[in-house]
Amino acid sequence: MPMEMITGRIATNLEGLKQFTATPGEGCTRLPFTKEARGAVDYLKGIMADAGLEVWEDAAGNVFGLMKGEDPDAPCVMMGSHYDSVIKGGDFDGIAGVVCAIEAARQLKERGVVPKRNFVAVGFCDEEGMRFGTGYFGSGAMLGNRDVEYCKKFKDTDGISIYDAMKGYGLDPERIGEAKWKEGSIGSFLELHIEQGPVLDAEHVELGLVNCIVGIQRYMVTVHGRSDHAGTTPMDMRLDAVDAATKVISKIADWAREKADGTVATVGYIHTVPGGMNIVAEQVEFTVDIRSSNNDNINDITKRIRAALDYETKQMGGSYEMENKLTITPVMLSEEMLDIMEEDCKAKGYSCKRLASGAGHDSLEIGQVLPTVMLFVPSKDGRSHCQVEFTKYSDFAKASVIMTDLAEKLLTR
Ligand code: GLV
Ligand code: MN
Ligand code: MN
Repeated sequence: MPMEMITGRIATNLEGLKQFTATPGEGCTRLPFTKEARGAVDYLKGIMADAGLEVWEDAAGNVFGLMKGEDPDAPCVMMGSHYDSVIKGGDFDGIAGVVCAIEAARQLKERGVVPKRNFVAVGFCDEEGMRFGTGYFGSGAMLGNRDVEYCKKFKDTDGISIYDAMKGYGLDPERIGEAKWKEGSIGSFLELHIEQGPVLDAEHVELGLVNCIVGIQRYMVTVHGRSDHAGTTPMDMRLDAVDAATKVISKIADWAREKADGTVATVGYIHTVPGGMNIVAEQVEFTVDIRSSNNDNINDITKRIRAALDYETKQMGGSYEMENKLTITPVMLSEEMLDIMEEDCKAKGYSCKRLASGAGHDSLEIGQVLPTVMLFVPSKDGRSHCQVEFTKYSDFAKASVIMTDLAEKLLTR
Protein backbone atom coordinates (compact mmCIF):
# COMPACT_ATOMS: atom_id res chain seq x y z
CA MET A 1 0.00 0.00 0.00
CA PRO A 2 1.55 3.33 -1.04
CA MET A 3 2.41 5.62 1.88
CA GLU A 4 0.40 8.46 0.31
CA MET A 5 -2.70 6.30 0.48
CA ILE A 6 -2.12 5.43 4.14
CA THR A 7 -1.42 9.07 4.96
CA GLY A 8 -4.60 10.09 3.16
CA ARG A 9 -6.79 7.62 5.04
CA ILE A 10 -5.40 8.67 8.42
CA ALA A 11 -5.84 12.35 7.49
CA THR A 12 -9.44 11.83 6.39
CA ASN A 13 -10.35 10.06 9.63
CA LEU A 14 -8.60 12.55 11.92
CA GLU A 15 -10.07 15.51 10.03
CA GLY A 16 -13.50 13.90 10.32
CA LEU A 17 -13.13 13.49 14.07
CA LYS A 18 -12.17 17.14 14.64
CA GLN A 19 -15.86 18.12 14.58
CA PHE A 20 -16.55 16.35 17.89
CA THR A 21 -15.54 19.13 20.24
CA ALA A 22 -17.50 21.23 22.70
CA THR A 23 -15.23 24.21 21.94
CA PRO A 24 -15.12 24.60 18.13
CA GLY A 25 -12.32 26.89 17.04
CA GLU A 26 -10.70 26.69 20.47
CA GLY A 27 -9.31 23.17 20.48
CA CYS A 28 -10.68 19.74 21.23
CA THR A 29 -12.91 19.38 24.29
CA ARG A 30 -14.28 15.85 24.25
CA LEU A 31 -15.05 14.91 27.82
CA PRO A 32 -16.33 11.45 28.71
CA PHE A 33 -20.07 10.72 28.61
CA THR A 34 -20.95 13.85 26.62
CA LYS A 35 -22.54 14.30 23.22
CA GLU A 36 -19.09 14.98 21.73
CA ALA A 37 -17.91 11.61 23.04
CA ARG A 38 -21.02 9.99 21.56
CA GLY A 39 -20.33 11.63 18.20
CA ALA A 40 -16.74 10.41 18.16
CA VAL A 41 -17.70 6.87 19.19
CA ASP A 42 -20.35 6.69 16.46
CA TYR A 43 -17.83 7.97 13.92
CA LEU A 44 -15.28 5.37 15.07
CA LYS A 45 -17.90 2.64 14.84
CA GLY A 46 -18.52 3.72 11.24
CA ILE A 47 -14.88 3.55 10.18
CA MET A 48 -14.34 0.30 12.06
CA ALA A 49 -17.27 -1.23 10.18
CA ASP A 50 -15.90 0.18 6.90
CA ALA A 51 -12.61 -1.54 7.68
CA GLY A 52 -14.55 -4.81 7.88
CA LEU A 53 -14.32 -5.12 11.66
CA GLU A 54 -16.98 -6.52 13.98
CA VAL A 55 -17.93 -3.55 16.15
CA TRP A 56 -19.26 -3.17 19.69
CA GLU A 57 -19.32 -0.79 22.61
CA ASP A 58 -18.86 -2.11 26.14
CA ALA A 59 -20.35 -1.25 29.52
CA ALA A 60 -17.61 1.34 30.20
CA GLY A 61 -18.06 3.25 26.95
CA ASN A 62 -15.06 1.69 25.19
CA VAL A 63 -15.46 0.95 21.47
CA PHE A 64 -13.96 -2.18 19.90
CA GLY A 65 -13.42 -3.46 16.35
CA LEU A 66 -12.57 -7.13 15.91
CA MET A 67 -10.74 -8.90 13.10
CA LYS A 68 -11.20 -12.59 13.79
CA GLY A 69 -8.24 -14.96 13.85
CA GLU A 70 -8.09 -18.70 13.19
CA ASP A 71 -8.24 -19.41 16.91
CA PRO A 72 -10.55 -16.82 18.50
CA ASP A 73 -9.78 -18.24 21.95
CA ALA A 74 -6.05 -17.55 21.70
CA PRO A 75 -4.87 -14.39 23.52
CA CYS A 76 -5.56 -11.50 21.13
CA VAL A 77 -3.38 -8.66 19.93
CA MET A 78 -5.04 -5.39 20.94
CA MET A 79 -4.11 -1.98 19.59
CA GLY A 80 -5.55 1.43 20.31
CA SER A 81 -5.68 4.45 22.56
CA HIS A 82 -8.31 6.88 23.92
CA TYR A 83 -10.95 9.01 22.21
CA ASP A 84 -11.54 11.56 25.01
CA SER A 85 -9.53 14.77 25.34
CA VAL A 86 -8.62 17.42 27.87
CA ILE A 87 -10.33 20.83 27.88
CA LYS A 88 -9.27 22.81 24.78
CA GLY A 89 -6.68 20.21 23.87
CA GLY A 90 -5.35 19.09 20.50
CA ASP A 91 -6.82 16.94 17.76
CA PHE A 92 -4.30 14.09 18.01
CA ASP A 93 -3.77 13.14 21.66
CA GLY A 94 -5.26 9.67 21.98
CA ILE A 95 -7.57 9.71 19.00
CA ALA A 96 -4.66 9.36 16.53
CA GLY A 97 -3.81 6.03 18.17
CA VAL A 98 -7.37 4.83 17.74
CA VAL A 99 -7.45 5.86 14.07
CA CYS A 100 -4.06 4.20 13.48
CA ALA A 101 -5.26 0.97 15.12
CA ILE A 102 -8.15 0.88 12.64
CA GLU A 103 -5.63 1.74 9.92
CA ALA A 104 -3.51 -1.23 11.05
CA ALA A 105 -6.54 -3.50 10.58
CA ARG A 106 -6.96 -2.16 7.03
CA GLN A 107 -3.30 -2.78 6.27
CA LEU A 108 -3.40 -6.30 7.71
CA LYS A 109 -6.33 -7.10 5.44
CA GLU A 110 -4.66 -5.53 2.39
CA ARG A 111 -1.53 -7.57 3.07
CA GLY A 112 -3.69 -10.69 3.11
CA VAL A 113 -2.54 -11.59 6.62
CA VAL A 114 -4.30 -14.67 7.98
CA PRO A 115 -4.19 -14.02 11.73
CA LYS A 116 -3.82 -16.99 14.03
CA ARG A 117 -5.39 -14.97 16.82
CA ASN A 118 -7.84 -12.07 17.03
CA PHE A 119 -6.76 -8.52 16.28
CA VAL A 120 -8.75 -5.94 18.23
CA ALA A 121 -8.74 -2.19 17.59
CA VAL A 122 -9.91 -0.18 20.59
CA GLY A 123 -10.94 3.37 21.51
CA PHE A 124 -10.86 3.78 25.27
CA CYS A 125 -13.22 6.00 27.23
CA ASP A 126 -11.87 8.61 29.68
CA GLU A 127 -8.13 8.10 29.70
CA GLU A 128 -7.45 11.72 30.64
CA GLY A 129 -9.39 11.86 33.88
CA MET A 130 -10.11 15.48 32.93
CA ARG A 131 -13.72 15.47 34.02
CA PHE A 132 -13.59 13.46 37.25
CA GLY A 133 -9.93 14.03 38.18
CA THR A 134 -9.19 10.33 37.84
CA GLY A 135 -7.74 8.53 34.77
CA TYR A 136 -7.70 5.33 32.66
CA PHE A 137 -11.36 4.62 33.28
CA GLY A 138 -12.03 2.54 30.16
CA SER A 139 -8.78 0.59 30.12
CA GLY A 140 -9.07 0.08 33.88
CA ALA A 141 -12.61 -1.28 33.46
CA MET A 142 -11.37 -3.65 30.74
CA LEU A 143 -8.93 -5.07 33.29
CA GLY A 144 -11.60 -5.33 35.99
CA ASN A 145 -10.17 -2.43 38.03
CA ARG A 146 -13.31 -0.24 38.09
CA ASP A 147 -16.51 -1.07 39.95
CA VAL A 148 -19.84 0.51 40.90
CA GLU A 149 -18.35 2.03 44.08
CA TYR A 150 -15.67 3.72 42.02
CA CYS A 151 -18.33 5.15 39.67
CA LYS A 152 -20.30 6.54 42.60
CA LYS A 153 -17.25 7.92 44.42
CA PHE A 154 -15.74 10.26 41.85
CA LYS A 155 -17.54 13.43 40.78
CA ASP A 156 -16.87 16.26 38.36
CA THR A 157 -16.70 19.89 39.48
CA ASP A 158 -20.49 20.21 38.98
CA GLY A 159 -20.98 17.37 41.48
CA ILE A 160 -22.01 14.83 38.82
CA SER A 161 -20.64 11.37 39.57
CA ILE A 162 -19.24 8.99 36.97
CA TYR A 163 -22.27 6.85 37.88
CA ASP A 164 -24.79 9.55 36.95
CA ALA A 165 -22.82 10.72 33.92
CA MET A 166 -22.84 7.17 32.57
CA LYS A 167 -26.59 6.91 33.06
CA GLY A 168 -27.15 10.21 31.24
CA TYR A 169 -25.02 8.86 28.40
CA GLY A 170 -27.08 5.68 28.07
CA LEU A 171 -24.74 3.27 29.88
CA ASP A 172 -25.73 1.24 32.92
CA PRO A 173 -23.05 1.78 35.59
CA GLU A 174 -24.40 -1.21 37.52
CA ARG A 175 -23.01 -3.34 34.66
CA ILE A 176 -19.50 -1.86 34.71
CA GLY A 177 -18.14 -5.28 35.75
CA GLU A 178 -19.17 -6.66 32.36
CA ALA A 179 -16.46 -4.53 30.73
CA LYS A 180 -13.80 -6.83 32.24
CA TRP A 181 -12.05 -9.10 29.77
CA LYS A 182 -11.40 -12.68 30.80
CA GLU A 183 -7.97 -13.31 32.30
CA GLY A 184 -5.60 -14.45 29.55
CA SER A 185 -7.78 -13.17 26.70
CA ILE A 186 -5.46 -10.27 25.81
CA GLY A 187 -1.96 -11.35 24.77
CA SER A 188 -0.39 -7.97 24.10
CA PHE A 189 -1.32 -4.31 23.88
CA LEU A 190 0.12 -1.84 21.35
CA GLU A 191 -0.40 1.94 21.54
CA LEU A 192 0.61 4.55 19.01
CA HIS A 193 0.56 8.08 20.43
CA ILE A 194 1.95 11.55 19.86
CA GLU A 195 5.01 12.24 22.01
CA GLN A 196 3.49 15.36 23.64
CA GLY A 197 7.03 16.48 24.45
CA PRO A 198 9.85 18.14 22.49
CA VAL A 199 12.56 15.45 22.20
CA LEU A 200 11.78 13.80 18.84
CA ASP A 201 10.99 17.07 17.08
CA ALA A 202 14.07 18.85 18.43
CA GLU A 203 16.39 15.96 17.56
CA HIS A 204 14.71 15.29 14.18
CA VAL A 205 14.03 11.67 15.13
CA GLU A 206 11.13 10.09 13.26
CA LEU A 207 9.83 7.62 15.82
CA GLY A 208 10.08 7.12 19.60
CA LEU A 209 10.29 3.67 21.15
CA VAL A 210 8.79 4.10 24.62
CA ASN A 211 10.51 1.95 27.21
CA CYS A 212 9.00 3.33 30.40
CA ILE A 213 6.00 5.37 31.58
CA VAL A 214 6.11 7.43 34.77
CA GLY A 215 3.98 6.66 37.81
CA ILE A 216 1.30 9.17 38.79
CA GLN A 217 -0.62 10.23 41.89
CA ARG A 218 -3.51 12.66 41.70
CA TYR A 219 -5.33 14.43 44.53
CA MET A 220 -8.18 16.87 45.06
CA VAL A 221 -7.38 18.94 48.13
CA THR A 222 -10.06 20.94 49.94
CA VAL A 223 -8.97 23.49 52.55
CA HIS A 224 -11.68 24.75 54.91
CA GLY A 225 -11.56 28.14 56.60
CA ARG A 226 -14.33 30.66 57.34
CA SER A 227 -15.84 33.41 55.19
CA ASP A 228 -15.72 36.86 56.69
CA HIS A 229 -15.65 40.51 55.71
CA ALA A 230 -12.36 41.30 53.95
CA GLY A 231 -12.19 44.81 55.39
CA THR A 232 -13.28 44.39 58.97
CA THR A 233 -11.71 41.08 59.97
CA PRO A 234 -8.20 41.64 61.41
CA MET A 235 -5.45 39.48 59.92
CA ASP A 236 -5.00 37.54 63.17
CA MET A 237 -8.72 36.88 63.53
CA ARG A 238 -9.49 35.33 60.16
CA LEU A 239 -9.53 31.72 58.95
CA ASP A 240 -8.35 32.44 55.43
CA ALA A 241 -8.45 29.28 53.34
CA VAL A 242 -6.58 30.97 50.46
CA ASP A 243 -3.74 32.04 52.73
CA ALA A 244 -3.28 28.49 54.09
CA ALA A 245 -3.73 26.73 50.73
CA THR A 246 -1.36 28.96 48.80
CA LYS A 247 1.37 28.54 51.41
CA VAL A 248 1.28 24.83 50.59
CA ILE A 249 0.77 25.24 46.84
CA SER A 250 3.76 27.58 46.55
CA LYS A 251 6.12 24.82 47.75
CA ILE A 252 4.94 21.93 45.57
CA ALA A 253 6.81 22.77 42.35
CA ASP A 254 10.05 23.31 44.29
CA TRP A 255 9.76 19.91 45.97
CA ALA A 256 9.58 18.35 42.50
CA ARG A 257 12.47 20.49 41.20
CA GLU A 258 14.58 19.44 44.16
CA LYS A 259 14.48 15.82 42.96
CA ALA A 260 16.29 16.92 39.77
CA ASP A 261 15.51 13.65 38.03
CA GLY A 262 12.53 14.54 35.87
CA THR A 263 10.01 14.36 38.70
CA VAL A 264 7.16 16.83 38.09
CA ALA A 265 4.29 18.17 40.19
CA THR A 266 1.44 20.34 38.98
CA VAL A 267 -1.38 22.28 40.59
CA GLY A 268 -3.58 22.73 37.51
CA TYR A 269 -6.90 23.67 39.09
CA ILE A 270 -7.67 26.10 41.92
CA HIS A 271 -11.17 27.14 42.98
CA THR A 272 -12.06 29.49 45.82
CA VAL A 273 -15.42 29.62 47.58
CA PRO A 274 -17.37 31.86 47.60
CA GLY A 275 -14.86 33.59 45.30
CA GLY A 276 -15.52 37.27 46.04
CA MET A 277 -12.96 40.08 45.97
CA ASN A 278 -14.04 41.39 49.39
CA ILE A 279 -14.76 38.10 51.13
CA VAL A 280 -12.24 36.01 53.04
CA ALA A 281 -12.50 32.60 51.30
CA GLU A 282 -14.09 29.85 53.34
CA GLN A 283 -12.85 27.12 51.04
CA VAL A 284 -10.16 26.41 48.45
CA GLU A 285 -10.11 23.34 46.25
CA PHE A 286 -7.01 22.51 44.26
CA THR A 287 -5.69 19.53 42.34
CA VAL A 288 -2.21 18.01 42.57
CA ASP A 289 -0.73 15.76 39.88
CA ILE A 290 2.69 14.25 40.74
CA ARG A 291 4.71 12.12 38.32
CA SER A 292 8.04 10.36 38.38
CA SER A 293 9.76 7.26 37.12
CA ASN A 294 10.83 6.83 40.76
CA ASN A 295 7.77 6.01 42.84
CA ASP A 296 9.55 6.95 46.09
CA ASN A 297 9.72 10.55 44.87
CA ILE A 298 5.97 10.63 44.34
CA ASN A 299 5.35 9.22 47.81
CA ASP A 300 7.78 11.69 49.33
CA ILE A 301 6.13 14.74 47.75
CA THR A 302 2.70 13.45 48.79
CA LYS A 303 3.97 13.09 52.35
CA ARG A 304 5.35 16.64 52.34
CA ILE A 305 2.07 18.05 51.01
CA ARG A 306 0.15 16.32 53.80
CA ALA A 307 2.57 17.57 56.44
CA ALA A 308 2.37 21.13 55.11
CA LEU A 309 -1.43 20.99 55.01
CA ASP A 310 -1.46 19.69 58.59
CA TYR A 311 0.73 22.57 59.70
CA GLU A 312 -0.84 25.42 57.71
CA THR A 313 -4.46 24.51 58.43
CA LYS A 314 -3.64 24.15 62.14
CA GLN A 315 -1.99 27.61 62.08
CA MET A 316 -5.07 28.99 60.36
CA GLY A 317 -7.51 27.20 62.64
CA GLY A 318 -9.27 25.32 59.85
CA SER A 319 -9.11 21.85 58.36
CA TYR A 320 -8.55 20.02 55.08
CA GLU A 321 -9.26 16.85 53.11
CA MET A 322 -6.93 15.29 50.57
CA GLU A 323 -8.82 12.91 48.30
CA ASN A 324 -6.76 10.46 46.28
CA LYS A 325 -8.05 10.29 42.71
CA LEU A 326 -5.36 8.15 41.12
CA THR A 327 -2.37 6.13 42.23
CA ILE A 328 -0.46 4.20 39.62
CA THR A 329 3.14 3.03 39.71
CA PRO A 330 5.72 3.49 36.89
CA VAL A 331 5.81 0.75 34.29
CA MET A 332 8.46 -0.74 32.00
CA LEU A 333 7.28 -1.67 28.51
CA SER A 334 8.02 -4.85 26.57
CA GLU A 335 11.69 -5.09 25.56
CA GLU A 336 10.82 -7.84 23.11
CA MET A 337 8.32 -5.70 21.21
CA LEU A 338 10.64 -2.68 21.35
CA ASP A 339 13.43 -4.74 19.78
CA ILE A 340 11.12 -5.92 16.99
CA MET A 341 10.11 -2.35 16.19
CA GLU A 342 13.69 -1.06 16.41
CA GLU A 343 14.87 -3.62 13.91
CA ASP A 344 12.00 -2.78 11.61
CA CYS A 345 12.75 0.96 11.83
CA LYS A 346 16.37 0.23 10.89
CA ALA A 347 15.30 -1.91 7.94
CA LYS A 348 12.95 0.82 6.68
CA GLY A 349 15.49 3.60 7.26
CA TYR A 350 13.41 5.41 9.88
CA SER A 351 15.39 7.09 12.64
CA CYS A 352 14.23 6.12 16.13
CA LYS A 353 15.28 6.35 19.73
CA ARG A 354 14.21 4.88 23.05
CA LEU A 355 12.67 7.30 25.49
CA ALA A 356 10.50 7.44 28.59
CA SER A 357 7.00 8.90 28.66
CA GLY A 358 6.19 11.64 31.14
CA ALA A 359 2.60 11.58 29.96
CA GLY A 360 0.23 8.96 31.26
CA HIS A 361 -1.42 6.59 28.83
CA ASP A 362 -3.78 3.63 28.76
CA SER A 363 -0.54 1.66 28.38
CA LEU A 364 0.37 2.71 31.92
CA GLU A 365 -2.72 0.97 33.28
CA ILE A 366 -2.48 -2.01 30.91
CA GLY A 367 1.31 -2.37 31.13
CA GLN A 368 0.99 -3.14 34.85
CA VAL A 369 -0.38 -6.57 33.94
CA LEU A 370 0.13 -7.29 30.22
CA PRO A 371 3.00 -7.18 27.70
CA THR A 372 2.59 -3.65 26.37
CA VAL A 373 4.44 -1.35 24.03
CA MET A 374 4.14 2.24 22.79
CA LEU A 375 5.37 4.03 19.69
CA PHE A 376 5.62 7.84 19.67
CA VAL A 377 5.40 10.20 16.73
CA PRO A 378 6.91 13.70 17.02
CA SER A 379 4.83 16.59 18.36
CA LYS A 380 5.72 19.94 16.75
CA ASP A 381 7.70 21.97 19.31
CA GLY A 382 6.60 19.42 21.91
CA ARG A 383 3.26 21.19 22.35
CA SER A 384 0.29 19.16 23.61
CA HIS A 385 -2.77 19.48 25.85
CA CYS A 386 -3.37 22.72 23.97
CA GLN A 387 -4.92 23.73 20.69
CA VAL A 388 -1.66 24.10 18.74
CA GLU A 389 -0.78 20.40 19.13
CA PHE A 390 0.45 19.24 15.70
CA THR A 391 1.88 16.12 14.08
CA LYS A 392 2.25 15.52 10.34
CA TYR A 393 -0.16 12.92 8.94
CA SER A 394 2.76 11.36 7.07
CA ASP A 395 4.47 10.73 10.44
CA PHE A 396 1.40 8.85 11.66
CA ALA A 397 1.54 6.81 8.45
CA LYS A 398 5.14 5.71 9.13
CA ALA A 399 4.30 4.76 12.70
CA SER A 400 1.18 2.89 11.58
CA VAL A 401 3.26 0.74 9.24
CA ILE A 402 5.80 -0.12 11.97
CA MET A 403 2.99 -1.04 14.35
CA THR A 404 1.18 -3.04 11.67
CA ASP A 405 4.41 -4.96 11.04
CA LEU A 406 4.65 -5.72 14.77
CA ALA A 407 0.98 -6.75 14.93
CA GLU A 408 1.47 -9.01 11.89
CA LYS A 409 4.38 -10.72 13.61
CA LEU A 410 2.40 -11.27 16.79
CA LEU A 411 -0.71 -12.42 14.93
CA THR A 412 1.03 -14.99 12.81
CA ARG A 413 3.17 -16.72 15.40
C1 GLV B 1 -2.66 12.43 29.89
O1 GLV B 1 -2.36 12.78 28.78
C2 GLV B 1 -1.83 12.73 31.00
O2 GLV B 1 -0.62 12.42 30.93
O3 GLV B 1 -2.33 13.32 31.95
MN1 MN C 1 -3.24 10.66 25.44
MN1 MN D 1 -3.65 13.66 27.16
